[in-house]
Amino acid sequence: MDGYRVLITGASKGIGAAVADVMLERGAQVWLVARGEQDLQQYADQLNSRYPDQTVVATAVDVINATERAALLEDIGWRWGGLDCLVNNVGSNIRLAANDYSENIYRRLFETNLDSAFFLTQSCYSWLRESSTASVVNIASVAGLAHMRSGVVYGMTKAAMLQMTRNLAVEWAEDGIRVNAVAPWYTDTPLARQVLDDAEYRDAVLARTPMQRIGSAQEMATATAFLCMPAAGYVTGQCLSVDGGVGINLFS
Ligand SMILES: NC(=O)c1ccc[n+]([C@@H]2O[C@H](COP(=O)([O-])OP(=O)(O)OC[C@H]3O[C@@H](n4cnc5c(N)ncnc54)[C@H](OP(=O)(O)O)[C@@H]3O)[C@@H](O)[C@H]2O)c1
Repeated sequence: MDGYRVLITGASKGIGAAVADVMLERGAQVWLVARGEQDLQQYADQLNSRYPDQTVVATAVDVINATERAALLEDIGWRWGGLDCLVNNVGSNIRLAANDYSENIYRRLFETNLDSAFFLTQSCYSWLRESSTASVVNIASVAGLAHMRSGVVYGMTKAAMLQMTRNLAVEWAEDGIRVNAVAPWYTDTPLARQVLDDAEYRDAVLARTPMQRIGSAQEMATATAFLCMPAAGYVTGQCLSVDGGVGINLFS
């Protein structure tokens, strides 16, 4: 991935941070986005010292804010003038029983998990079309494929993200832009620790996971990087489940 220009949303911690590291390891240049400036800058400094000969840029952006997205794109245009890979990784959750979702929470989850990814991808289209190695990877979830204890709205956003992946893959195939998704199962990140720190909950997750362990952010990141590589050059519209076997297990 030498020289690939890669934009990663939600890249100050968790899966997005690991994606940045793995991309740099493979020679890419990365542009990191998250809201919290301090964490983001700290992580960018760490990466800069590990990969001193590569470009690491970090911008504090709330991806649900259209004005901030537009400013980000202007910066990228000015500095890079194009893009080879976009990783839509931002995602969040508020887990409730279906009847307890207010309209505000519902809309907030869709804006964060789906709308921001759609509009950012749409804005990057002309750059991606010009790249000879263009690809988009959407970080979805097992919750977009089957019921899990995520709450219905999170599952809906991730299922829609998977359909967005398929539609864009077909629509943009003639432009040479591949679009794929990764569907993680429980992964050791700050987001998942909110539930995995509860020993009873963690045991229930492990009992349902054939590989009997939680995934690592690194494992999600290497799957993401693979989908961007020339090695995956004929792969588009796919969802790669990185789930310790949970998705193919009905009864064990
Ligand atoms: N961890 C899991 O078990 C798991 C399982 C399935 C799917 N996923 C999916 O994987 C993705 C990453 O999850 P994670 O567990 O790594 O999450 P995480 O640990 O909470 O990290 C989220 C990252 O996104 C940033 N972020 C959140 N909202 C943002 C916004 N509106 N604009 C810009 N940046 C924002 C956060 O930084 P700031 O807060 O500073 O903005 C942080 O850098 C999500 O889409 C999630 O749904 C995770």
